[in-house]
Amino acid sequence: MSKNQISRPDPKKFRIKSFGCQMNVYDGERMFEMLIDQGMTDAADGEEADLVVLNTCHIREKAAEKVYSDIGRLRKKDGTSPMIAVAGCVAQAEGKEISRRAPSVDIVVGPQAYHRLPELITRAKTGKKALDTDMPAASKFDALPTRGKQARPNAFLTVQEGCDKFCTYCVVPYTRGAEISRPWIDLIDEAKALVDGGAKEITLLGQNVNAWTGQDDNGKTHGLDGLIRALDDIPGLKRIRYTTSHANDMTDALIAAHADVGKLMPYLHLPVQSGSDRILKAMNRSHTTESYLEILHRVRNARPDIALSGDFIVGFPGETDADFEDTLSIVREANYSQAYSFKYSPRPGTPAATMDDQIAPEIMDERLQRLQALLNEQQHDFNIQTIGRETEILLERIGKLDGQLVGKTPWLQSVHVIAPGLKIGDMVDVEIEAAGPNSMTGRIRERIAA
Ligand code: SAH
Ligand code: SF4
Ligand code: F3S
Repeated sequence: MSKNQISRPDPKKFRIKSFGCQMNVYDGERMFEMLIDQGMTDAADGEEADLVVLNTCHIREKAAEKVYSDIGRLRKKDGTSPMIAVAGCVAQAEGKEISRRAPSVDIVVGPQAYHRLPELITRAKTGKKALDTDMPAASKFDALPTRGKQARPNAFLTVQEGCDKFCTYCVVPYTRGAEISRPWIDLIDEAKALVDGGAKEITLLGQNVNAWTGQDDNGKTHGLDGLIRALDDIPGLKRIRYTTSHANDMTDALIAAHADVGKLMPYLHLPVQSGSDRILKAMNRSHTTESYLEILHRVRNARPDIALSGDFIVGFPGETDADFEDTLSIVREANYSQAYSFKYSPRPGTPAATMDDQIAPEIMDERLQRLQALLNEQQHDFNIQTIGRETEILLERIGKLDGQLVGKTPWLQSVHVIAPGLKIGDMVDVEIEAAGPNSMTGRIRERIAA
């Protein structure tokens, strides 16, 4: 008899592993809080968990396949496994297929249904498989416990979910569903609860975060800029960020917020994906290289010191050497402080997966290397430019050296400092002393009053 026909005891200790984007990290935190609320405890490092939640990502093949090796690794010496829940975007995309490929999985729960995890655990305890990949009309957010004490001073807040853009390579519209904006009042309340719980910085999240729209208490309609301005008024909140934005939703009002909202950090993640208009069209990106560069120009006029980040895909079907050279050109023109770049990965069910002229892996490798060399150089140059500068950092984690803490500048660079007497969550003025490609070191000048 397989273990799945045997009833199981109540899981007491759990572990959640999140992969993928920051929205998945946010979902992992919400599941964590929910399981704690149910009376379970977090399994400490090295301790065995009775329930393991794998909060998965489906964006590229490598990410999606990882879940199966992780499930295999959960098998104990006696051949049994803890109760295993597969959550996140692989759960949504592959559903029942997961239990077929990995019989030790007990629960499959999609990103819009994880508020039902407690019921699914109850079902799994009886030895039955539990699957929930519904996208219910009622929001999961209403069913989750309110935010409590925060483990990190830099909190995430999902304000918008789903995507209606349907870029031809991307699974997100299928795994996360249609674009929805969470209501204004819920977001203000959650932001206040995060700050009460110790958050100093809030990053507003959405796959198309700048498409957020909502009505304030007086019924006035706002875009993301209005929400940012309202959050700016929360005492105790020091920094506001948002990610990821789409070029088409980059409004004048949001750009203006970069000029005059004190807590809005000078950082913008605005993916372009390719520097070739022909490829952008095939990707269904609905912006051009010209319209993208024009936005950057306006953003830089509003906030001259803004740090710019982006995403790139190399080797999209049909990408020629000339198209790729155009990508290098737009990178040179845009000048990024940091960026993410990926080899195109064909995803089942997306239009690009069946397009002609799929690019050979070795060509993709070569293009990715050249692109990353250029992006790394830009990142290093950006860091070098801050040497000698005095700036404020938010201490976010412990460093490797004795007494060392690591914080972030307003431009999202990591700075290592020796910080005796200081703790995570403190904000300090530092002078940047040295800069490498990935991080910098600084000297503490003065602590900023909380
Ligand atoms: N909503 C955001 C980001 C979505 S996913 C946006 O539109 O920009 C994060 C990044 O993963 C994308 O920006 C893209 O660069 C990359 N990506 C998405 N699908 C991919 C695929 N099939 N292959 C390779 N990279 C992909
Ligand atoms: Fe994917 Fe495009 Fe939507 Fe971004 S905008 S999530 S890349 S479909
Ligand atoms: Fe991955 Fe889903 Fe995020 S596919 S990138 S976890 S929205």
